[in-house]
Amino acid sequence: MPDVPLFSPLRVGPLELPNRVAMAPMTRLRAFGGVPNSLMAEYYAQRATAGLIVTECTMVEPRANGYVHCPGVFSTDQVAGWRGVTEAVHASGGNIFLQLWHCGRVSHPSLQPGGADPVAPSAIAGIGDLHTTVGKVDLAVPRALDAGEIPAIVDHFRAAAANAREAGFDGVEIHGAFGYLIDQFLQGVSNRRADGYGGSVANRCRFCLEVADAVVGVWGPDRVGVKLSPANTFYGMLDSDPLGLFGHLLGELDQRPLAYVHLMEPSDGDRGRPGVIEDVLGTFRSFYRGRVMSNGGHTRASAERVLESGEAALVSFGRSYLANPDLVERLRRGTPLAAPDFSTLYARSPEGAERGYTDYPTLTAGA
Ligand code: PHB
Repeated sequence: MPDVPLFSPLRVGPLELPNRVAMAPMTRLRAFGGVPNSLMAEYYAQRATAGLIVTECTMVEPRANGYVHCPGVFSTDQVAGWRGVTEAVHASGGNIFLQLWHCGRVSHPSLQPGGADPVAPSAIAGIGDLHTTVGKVDLAVPRALDAGEIPAIVDHFRAAAANAREAGFDGVEIHGAFGYLIDQFLQGVSNRRADGYGGSVANRCRFCLEVADAVVGVWGPDRVGVKLSPANTFYGMLDSDPLGLFGHLLGELDQRPLAYVHLMEPSDGDRGRPGVIEDVLGTFRSFYRGRVMSNGGHTRASAERVLESGEAALVSFGRSYLANPDLVERLRRGTPLAAPDFSTLYARSPEGAERGYTDYPTLTAGA
């Protein structure tokens, strides 16, 4: 086998990843009641030939909930459920990080404990809608957190990181992207605070860095990744100076030798938008000298390009992993990829939840 960077191993702290293909975090909504189950263990174990799996976004506390049937990692049951997942992945030779997540304003009272308003940096609703138990609803206007409440949320991330260790994960990824709570603190459109968590770029980065430091305190830096999406307008995100904001944040993260920073390229819908950063990796690489995981519409050719140029150390694949559990082998052989059925992306009930989830075949032997 010629030395193809995509299939070469990578050392990340104590971990030896067998290749540079990561499975990107993807919400699949099969954790009925918020508790990971054996169907999820099967799904992740099927994809264990990835160099690294990053799980779907996972609630760090009850108020982190933005979707029906997304998993949590704050209760004993949830930790036990995740242990079943990590054991199945490890038994299949894989490596798996848990994605730690708080939805912030991307929620609705019907998803919140006691029917309360979701919490966020400022009382500004995001743009979009959600499926809830009461039907499809617009994102709610959140309640602005008091400064005094913020340390408790940082503590939820810390406790969730500790629970992830107990559940047998190899590390964690902090979800700082996609318009969720950390991103809401970062970007100007959703953060109008006048205290130490708002206003200047340094202040808006404070919450993200406090969470990063808390989680690094649990795991050590080389088992922690941070995901960012500087070019995406998901759920109404926008900042007047994304280069200044994310450049500063990456400079701060550069002081911490993390496992990786996970950078999302603009979504198809964001490409061509006035002011959008079209090449996130190329634009931000110089601000962060450690390992970068590149995400967003990659093919084998584009993945090899960013690995060969040294811009990325890992490439994550989302959509391609839905219908191709043995994606690494298919990329290696150059086999055409199977197309996913998007109607089964999310499960609405346990009935038939395996459809479009664990029933995509691998290549038959010798094919
Ligand atoms: C992401 O990591 O980009 C991500 C994860 C889960 C979501 C959305 C985005 O629901």
